[in-house]
Amino acid sequence: MEKKEQLYEGKAKKVFATDDANLVIVDYKDDATAFNGEKKGTIAGKGVINNVMSNHMFQLLEQQGVPTHFVEQLSDRETVVKKVSIVPLEVIIRNISAGSFAKRYGVNEGIVFDEPTIEFSYKNDDLGDPLMNAYHAIALKLATREEIERIKAMAFKVNEVMKQYFDTLNVTLVDFKLEFGKTADGTIVLADEISPDTCRLWDKTTGEKLDKDRFRRDLGGVEEAYQEIMKRVMSK
Ligand code: TMP
Repeated sequence: MEKKEQLYEGKAKKVFATDDANLVIVDYKDDATAFNGEKKGTIAGKGVINNVMSNHMFQLLEQQGVPTHFVEQLSDRETVVKKVSIVPLEVIIRNISAGSFAKRYGVNEGIVFDEPTIEFSYKNDDLGDPLMNAYHAIALKLATREEIERIKAMAFKVNEVMKQYFDTLNVTLVDFKLEFGKTADGTIVLADEISPDTCRLWDKTTGEKLDKDRFRRDLGGVEEAYQEIMKRVMSK
């Protein structure tokens, strides 16, 4: 597999072309941002952890019947994935109140919901990723009704698989963000990453935050938290 020209650079990853028009290589960086890029920093070793953990999660999800973009890990920071056009929606599932949900509705963090919630935001940095409902996404032709239904079903399935998995690691899956892509033949697959950057993960016993909130909120112990999650993920 030949790594060719860079196609794109995002806040946490670069994407490169390959000699196969249907495949690209993602290269994970240690760069970290928060609040739509206002806060910037680096988390040493994050790129390696997010690459390896995402691939672990994607393989687990594939085994459970969720199609993903994952093809093959090339190195500790690089992975071959299917080339997709990203549906410009951030799909957020929540099991417990936290973050922008707690802020928006004026409630404490840590309220356990009877049922998971789903929400979308429009993936658009210039607009600050505004919250959006399914009708708005369809009106703006970001996705069809059928694609939205498929994305919702896949997102809830991902939640069931991940909740159970993290439970075995003594970790509570509070919430997470997914992105979906469309392959050349129109199939919707899970894309982007699943990592401590994109999930809230709390130690089940102590409640300690083992995710990017340590960076967002200047809690310290950021690298240690990523390493702790990596260690637990690698154990199962
Ligand atoms: P929120 O509570 O800030 O809306 O975040 C919900 C989840 O989505 C949380 O697990 C962090 C993740 N997330 C991202 O992956 N990218 C983002 O840009 C934001 C705002 C949140």
